Amino acid sequence: MRTQVAIIGGGPSGLLLAQLLHLAGIRSVVLERRSRDYVLGRIRAGVLEQGLVDLLRRAGVGERMEREGQVHAGINIAFRGELHRVDLAGLTGGKTVMVYGQTEVTRDLYAARDALGGTILHEVEDVEPHGLETDRLFVTWRQGDRHCRLDCDFVAGCDGFHGVSRSRVPKDVLETFEKIYPFGWMGVLARTPPVEHELIYTHHERGFALCSMRSATLSRYYVQCPATDAPGDWSDATFWDELRSRLPTDVAARLVTGPSIEKSVAPLRSFVAEPMRHGRLLLAGDAAHIVPPTGAKGLNLAASDIHYLSQALIDFYRTGSEAGLLAYSDTALRRVWKAERFSWWMTGLLHRLPESSPFEARVQEAELDYVLSSKAAMTALAENYVGLPYG
Ligand code: APR
Ligand code: PHB
Repeated sequence: MRTQVAIIGGGPSGLLLAQLLHLAGIRSVVLERRSRDYVLGRIRAGVLEQGLVDLLRRAGVGERMEREGQVHAGINIAFRGELHRVDLAGLTGGKTVMVYGQTEVTRDLYAARDALGGTILHEVEDVEPHGLETDRLFVTWRQGDRHCRLDCDFVAGCDGFHGVSRSRVPKDVLETFEKIYPFGWMGVLARTPPVEHELIYTHHERGFALCSMRSATLSRYYVQCPATDAPGDWSDATFWDELRSRLPTDVAARLVTGPSIEKSVAPLRSFVAEPMRHGRLLLAGDAAHIVPPTGAKGLNLAASDIHYLSQALIDFYRTGSEAGLLAYSDTALRRVWKAERFSWWMTGLLHRLPESSPFEARVQEAELDYVLSSKAAMTALAENYVGLPYG
């Protein structure tokens, strides 16, 4: 088999890249380790920046999102028992975010690839890229007892944090930066109406909590928990009690609870791998970086990577110029680091930090007090939350 771009990983990064390349007449094959049902069974974040919304529209996959997604012009921060609204649109000259689940984005991308006859191979094992530093690249894998080979011009490593691609950049070339937090988020999905029509990020002495949603009848809630907790450690009742105890009294009183449809723990981690290109291997999305979920930036960063990468590949195939590909890593990383900074800052601002001293805890409260009372500080938060420009 031969293609132009071999894409390892059929998550949102890989699928969006395949779709954008296809629309520009560039052939690709997506190689995904899991089944489609497994990929679509993962519950992930659900806040899309305008840049991603525009990219999905451009990729011809915006239709259901326009119909079912909710445009949010603000978020709330709960502090000292009160809700404070961050007027995202008012502070950013009208910018908003779209609340629409990553799972739904992925489903729409699969549907679009199917409609255009795109090749996505599922349940492929032992995927291995070869010849990355040459112009004779190929990828091998196994499907059952069949051994397969795909020749290609480029390999896009879109295989997430645990994928194979990043580990094929030589150790003396790859530099990694990491911060692991000693806590996680216990998340519950429930078929209940959201407690508030906009998200609530809560600072509380018992720990952070987040009230989010997928639709008018589907809620997503999180509470900060020790990194070592497992979903089985928390009954639904324990979860709801803990959530209620962290919310302002009037909000807690309005909370509608119900059986959890899904319960999982997300670890909190910041991670960046540099560079994002090695020879003709190009990394994108979670394969290259992870952010803690506090700023809702994970999927959005994957999207900006794919924007830069698809443009660079399209330029290469149209004009023969490698300039965009050579600049890809630097261009993508500039935006990645700004989102890393924002996610780190939001995380530090809103969580109970077990390692901080009483002095640092007071400074954290003062900072939150400042952010909520200063238009300048609130504008900086809003500008980052709606998403920095792709540039
Ligand atoms: N071979 C083939 N596929 C692989 C391999 C491998 N060795 N390793 C991992 N994969 C697949 C995974 O099964 C997964 O479906 O790669 C895909 C990677 O998808 P994601 O982890 O969703 O990463 P990405 O597409 O970059 O999506 C952006 O940002 O913060 C996150 O939640 C957000 O998942 C979202 C991500
Ligand atoms: C979610 O709805 O799952 C969600 C929303 C905002 C975040 C993180 C997760 O910051």
